[in-house]
Amino acid sequence: SLNGFSIIQQEWFAENVPLSQIAKEFGTPTYVYSRKALTDAFNAYEKACFKPNGERRAQVHYAMKANSNLAILNVFARLGAGFDIVSAGELARVLAAGGEAKKIVFSGVGKSRSEMIAALKAGVKCFNLESIPELSRLNEVAASLGVIAPISLRVNPDVDPKTHPYISTGLKGNKFGIAYDEVINTYREAASMSNCKIVGIDCHIGSQITEISPYLDALDRVLELIKSLGDNGINIHHLDIGGGLGINYANDTPPAITDFANTLLNHIEAKGYGHLEVLFEPGRSLVGNAGLLLTTVEYIKPGETKNFCIVDAAMNDLMRPAMYEAYHSIVPVKQSNMPNMTCDVVGPICESGDWLGRDRELNVQAGDQLAILSAGAYGFTMSSNYNTRGRAAEVMVDGSTIHLIRERESIESLFANEKLLPA
Ligand code: LLP
Repeated sequence: SLNGFSIIQQEWFAENVPLSQIAKEFGTPTYVYSRKALTDAFNAYEKACFKPNGERRAQVHYAMKANSNLAILNVFARLGAGFDIVSAGELARVLAAGGEAKKIVFSGVGKSRSEMIAALKAGVKCFNLESIPELSRLNEVAASLGVIAPISLRVNPDVDPKTHPYISTGLKGNKFGIAYDEVINTYREAASMSNCKIVGIDCHIGSQITEISPYLDALDRVLELIKSLGDNGINIHHLDIGGGLGINYANDTPPAITDFANTLLNHIEAKGYGHLEVLFEPGRSLVGNAGLLLTTVEYIKPGETKNFCIVDAAMNDLMRPAMYEAYHSIVPVKQSNMPNMTCDVVGPICESGDWLGRDRELNVQAGDQLAILSAGAYGFTMSSNYNTRGRAAEVMVDGSTIHLIRERESIESLFANEKLLPA
């Protein structure tokens, strides 16, 4: 069982609500989130964020690309979270959800001028920058507004996070970050810019990382830089360790959130850098296991070499299997004692890549509901309208209450912004 989701008398529940009831009231496919699971994951980080004397030593900045529904952002904002954004769109969402601008860090390798303007006007805490051209542009934009931009440089610590190559970001040859050997010079350049103020340093080494050692390696590399920067008269106020902590999808064994955060923070203190303010940018570990995708079986199609279980959710709803061959557990909402069959769980889209699970043992019939687990991160946010399919509804369960937090997209809305050529 998962925090927030459990089997009660052979039936899956979200907190106190049977998933079958959600399917009945809201239809499928529908993303279902547990407020309790979101809250517990956040608090697991918070637990590590204070010194014994009660002073804060670290702050969580939720990487909202993982799931940017306003209700989810609002749950975290109420708990005191900061946010990690990567676009003007995400900035607008955080502000609409009640997040505070002064707790926002702005990441990403390609910020546009208009995004910089929006973030400077809002008054974000920090820009995480990745190149000299980006630094010069920000300096110029800040000067034109007559403000000073708080900045941090994202360094590439060149460590192997031992994760999927598509989601590892801290190795040489990667588009992210500033090469280790160029960091000091880039900071010198930044220090010379009239409208930028150096406040921090950051790194992010990848995603779905299930070991602590790559983080400790990256930390050591970054702490070395902080030391040399100090020797060069450049003082760093905060250290942003990025995100990347993995979750359990099937047989993954990531460290527990609190242990992970404590280990890193204790390491920083042990190395003599306890005075730094530390930032975490977790995405997946806050929301991944707090959500699932509820779907209905349309057909069972026996095939020559294998059986197909065709469901009403598809790769447009959950891209991760098609894109990364990611594994998500798939369970029948109502457990039965019928014999199992082996099947591929696939969607209705006209692509062989449209699969959600392969070679699964399931006992299901047409009309049954399935839950695709651990779909709270990079599920809805990566969904599309491919095949002119409206995106799924989203609900959040809080105890015995179901809140509709995003309506299913109507078909008309999908082409409402399109226009015919004149007659
Ligand atoms: N900070 C930065 C600068 C990032 O680029 C990311 C994620 C995060 C934080 C949050 O990482 P997390 O804690 O979620 O691992 N779509 C892929 C994951 C892409 C991650 C991109 N960057 C997936 O579905 O597995």
